[in-house]
Amino acid sequence: MTADHDRNDEQTTGESADDHELRVSKIKNGTVIDHVRGGQALNVLAILGIDGGDREQVSVGINVPSDRLARKDIVKVEDRELSQDEVDVLSLIAPDATINIVRSYTVTSKHRVERPEQVEGVLTCPNATCITTEDEPVTSRFDVLDDGVRCAYCGTIVRESIADLIDSA
Ligand code: CTP
Ligand code: ZN
Repeated sequence: MTADHDRNDEQTTGESADDHELRVSKIKNGTVIDHVRGGQALNVLAILGIDGGDREQVSVGINVPSDRLARKDIVKVEDRELSQDEVDVLSLIAPDATINIVRSYTVTSKHRVERPEQVEGVLTCPNATCITTEDEPVTSRFDVLDDGVRCAYCGTIVRESIADLIDSA
C-alpha cells in the first residue's frame, strides 16, 4: 500500500522534476514544440521543411515519457520562430502541441496550438479529379474536422496521414 502510494506520487511530479532523465538538451534561443503526438515528430520536421540539408540545429525526442500524453515527441529548433501558417498545419497532426519560444535559455512564451476552421493552400487533395488538383488556378481549401480534414471542393475526407497531403513536404 505504501509502496503503491509512493509510486503514484512519483508519476505526478512531472517531467521537469525528473532531474536524472533529461533526454533532449535545453536550447538557448528558438522554439520548442512540445507534447507532439507520439510518432509525429518526423512529420513535424517535414512541415517545417527541415531535412538536415541546412545548417539548422534541431533536436528531436521520439516516444519519450510524458505526463499529459502516454508518450510524446518533442522537437527543438534553434534560432527559429514559426509562422502562423506553420503552426496551423502543425495543429492538424499535433493537436495537443505546445509552442514554447525560448530566449536566452528562458521560456518567454508558451501557447497551445489552435486548430483553425480551415486551411488554405497548404494541403493537396488526394482526389485526382478534384478541381484543385487539375490545371486550374484554384487554391486548395480544407475544412478542419475534429478527426481529420475535408476538401471544401470535392468533400474528400482524410483522417489518417494528413502529413502526406502537405504541399512541399
Ligand atoms: N526547454 C528547452 N530549452 C530551454 C527551456 C525549455 O528545451 N532553454 C524545453 C523544456 O525541456 C520543455 C519545454 O521547453 O520540454 C517547455 O519548458 P518549460 O515550460 O520549462 O517546461 P514545463 O513546465 O514542463 O512545460 P509544460 O508545462 O508545457 O509541460
Ligand atoms: Zn478535393
